[in-house]
Amino acid sequence: MNKFYPLTISDIHRETRDAIAITFTVADEIKHKFCYEQGQYLVIKKMINGEEVRRSYSICASVNDDLLRVGIKQVPHGLFSNVANTEFKVGDVLDVMTPQGQFGHSLTKGMDDSANKHFLMVAAGSGITPILSLIKTCLESDSTSQITLMYGNRSTVTSMFRNELEDLKNAYMDRFNLVFIFSRESQDIELYNGRIDANKCEQLLNRLMQVTDLAGAYICGPQDMTEQVSASLIKQGLAQHKVHFELFHSDASAKEQRQFRQSNAAVETMEASDITVIHDGRQMQFQLQQNTKSILEAGNDIGADLPFSCTAGVCSTCKAKVLEGEVEMDVNFALEDYEVEAGYVLSCQCYPITQTVVLSYDQ
Ligand code: FES
Repeated sequence: MNKFYPLTISDIHRETRDAIAITFTVADEIKHKFCYEQGQYLVIKKMINGEEVRRSYSICASVNDDLLRVGIKQVPHGLFSNVANTEFKVGDVLDVMTPQGQFGHSLTKGMDDSANKHFLMVAAGSGITPILSLIKTCLESDSTSQITLMYGNRSTVTSMFRNELEDLKNAYMDRFNLVFIFSRESQDIELYNGRIDANKCEQLLNRLMQVTDLAGAYICGPQDMTEQVSASLIKQGLAQHKVHFELFHSDASAKEQRQFRQSNAAVETMEASDITVIHDGRQMQFQLQQNTKSILEAGNDIGADLPFSCTAGVCSTCKAKVLEGEVEMDVNFALEDYEVEAGYVLSCQCYPITQTVVLSYDQ
């Protein structure tokens, strides 16, 4: 589990001027390790300028495609995304972790259980990548399902997977409603111009559907957009457990909080906790002064090789279960409430608050 494997890039497709989709070949003997669920992501690591850089990118294919493909949008000053967009070529070998994440997990249950199978998908920019996986999987797997996608971008040419979405619309005309929202390109229907925020969302929902009838809503984009859309859906009567979101970018607050915590550590009580981490059947023990480093960071400092990607509480690659003791999490953008109740934590955000803490990555 949570291991990296060397995979070869078999195809690179330029989606927009600043985004590519790359496909990996998976050797037959490890194919079973790369079976994925709709909405999951891959953590890719690469040495860049002498430094190990890890990033997570969502798989943008249906579970029926048997196609390990991720979308990478070039972001300003983005170390990995710039190298990927300008230097990657077919035949390159990258270290890729087995698929992670649970964003689309509930979709299967929704398709099985719901009488009314209308799902709302909302994406902005590269947030379309996991959403595309959900849409394709749902349309292909359940002929009674219906999907409405609200997809926000600056303009037509900056919209990733535009052609693929248009093809899906043509193939599933009665079941797939595709709504593009552009902030810098004018469309005939005024409602479709601008950004997706709480106000726009409310107007679109009023026009397009009865919110309370939805089987579920899946949102992926910047934090502000996902929060506004989630709040708007709940305000209009959709049960909270039916609203699912994934962030592709967390605001700096998590990092800032951590820096604040570290800069203030000197004036707080510097108690040391005894930490045990269990990973791949191995146990490692170390001491960690409270309020200094996260358990993930401290464990990896001593060579525990614990899994991680974003280190910002967004991706859940570092998910672990507390078996003993208590920890405090700075932020959590990835775990559902029931997971937290069951004792799961994001170890990149965890600081010990008891003398002894035992954390397992194997559960
Ligand atoms: Fe991404 Fe911890 S490494 S949530």
